[in-house]
Amino acid sequence: MVHILNGEQFADENILEKIFKRARELEEADAEGQAPKLLSGKIVATVFYETSTRTRLSFESGALKLGGGVISVADPKTSSASKGESLEDAIKVIGGYSDIIVLRHPENGAAARAADVSRVPVINAGDGSNEHPTQALYDLYSIQKELGKIDGLKIAFMSDLRYQRNAHSLIPLFCLFKNLEIYFIGPTELALPQVYKDRLAAAGIKFKELPQIDSILPEIDVLYVGRVFKERFQDEAEYEKLKKSFFVDQNTLARMKKDSLILHVMPRVFEIDPKVDADPRAGYFRQAKNGLYVRMALLLYALDLY
Ligand code: CP
Repeated sequence: MVHILNGEQFADENILEKIFKRARELEEADAEGQAPKLLSGKIVATVFYETSTRTRLSFESGALKLGGGVISVADPKTSSASKGESLEDAIKVIGGYSDIIVLRHPENGAAARAADVSRVPVINAGDGSNEHPTQALYDLYSIQKELGKIDGLKIAFMSDLRYQRNAHSLIPLFCLFKNLEIYFIGPTELALPQVYKDRLAAAGIKFKELPQIDSILPEIDVLYVGRVFKERFQDEAEYEKLKKSFFVDQNTLARMKKDSLILHVMPRVFEIDPKVDADPRAGYFRQAKNGLYVRMALLLYALDLY
């Protein structure tokens, strides 16, 4: 039984290549209407104790395309979590109704707690501000697909790195690529936690923190934008102060390389002017679609159905 809990477990070139190859095959098969029905007879439980559009619906769509069935908690208010049932009890019960559980939860470490008691594989679909490994995998897949490589690129994050959990899951994956240059842009209040900087430093990955993007904009290959995570702030005034820390518009585009790529973790709130969407460098909607195929590959990986 393989649980998918964090980015670190994918910090292996062979595993990454296997998942990316499978995702490409599934995308090609789906384009022909021929996705293999490898989940026939299997039930995927999507258990979301926090809101989601992309993650829940892409897992459910992927499960259905692969011939599986889906049961879902889309809102904890409609489940017995609202009556005080523990996560552990819920997972033990749901594991009796399903073959795999995709879990989103507001608490850091919830996916590992679920995996400890689960009789079926658990996929971490985001646990608090801790990790979001399936998003990190399709982020990397998107960079590879759009730019043809990962190593050697200059990647700038202009986002809330304190809370952006997919960025945390990406750190060990970046450590596989020794010639990356990474920039973390933004106010110190939203800086990447030290533990992740230590991980990059230990792997010898070059990175720099900068308050503004201007000086490096013409050099970067990937601009990864994200929102400020309102739901994680204890202090609303602090969120109000920081919420518009990041902004990309046509002036930003004008200073970027012609063959660069803009990604966004999504949902977008204020950070990218919708006028940017028409530019071929705006890759965030393609990135979200890639999530479908990477997640199909991950369902098969966790269920050992390769
Ligand atoms: N990026 C992401 O996880 O989106 P959702 O919150 O909509 O699932």
